[in-house]
Amino acid sequence: MRWDKEPGRLNMTHQIAQAMLNRTSPRGNEVLLDYGTGTGLIALEFLYSVKKIVAVDSSKDMLTFLQKKLNADSITTIEPLEWSIGSDPSQLPEFDIIIVSLTLHHVPDTSQAAEVFYSLLKPGGIIAIADLDPDNGESHEPEMTVHHGFVREDLMEIFKKAGFTTIQIDSVATLAKESSKTGVLKEFPIFLMIAHKDK
Ligand SMILES: C[S@@+](CC[C@H](N)C(=O)[O-])C[C@H]1O[C@@H](n2cnc3c(N)ncnc32)[C@H](O)[C@@H]1O
Repeated sequence: MRWDKEPGRLNMTHQIAQAMLNRTSPRGNEVLLDYGTGTGLIALEFLYSVKKIVAVDSSKDMLTFLQKKLNADSITTIEPLEWSIGSDPSQLPEFDIIIVSLTLHHVPDTSQAAEVFYSLLKPGGIIAIADLDPDNGESHEPEMTVHHGFVREDLMEIFKKAGFTTIQIDSVATLAKESSKTGVLKEFPIFLMIAHKDK
């Protein structure tokens, strides 16, 4: 898979994963949801820090690629699963931690996503969302239906409305990519939002 090989992308993903690990402080007994796991790069960095990871994605190809990686290393505590917001959540357990890296901008209804994430978390649970600041539509090809980044205050308000508390956002990495409008290499800032479900 292309982005398992690009050093810049791997470095950025590592920075996001380390920031997520630092700010969620898992103790080893948690059940974690990685929403939009892709090739599982972030999930794999949580491997020895939690008990079990459900790695969901809407793409079968991504999940097949991830399963091959897991088989190659005999990893059984990460479970790839085809699932997305809007599908029946009854097949999912309750989670202590949810992580979402560079995927929320692909979900059409952000308020619905916030409500579903809230319902999937146990009381006392924590969510970590990494995504792009507003990017003027330059970080993706125009034919891709995505949000063109998020205004941090607006996103915090959406998650507050869904029930989350103690919400914090700060910058954690940048995505280096050619602008889809100008072709010029740009650095797109990435934030990490942490939010809690009260006990
Ligand atoms: C940019 S990749 C990020 C992958 C991984 N989280 C990372 O940071 O390396 C976005 C992933 O979200 C998945 N995706 C897109 N729309 C989705 C949706 N509505 N629900 C679940 N996954 C989705 C894509 O298939 C892709 O694997």
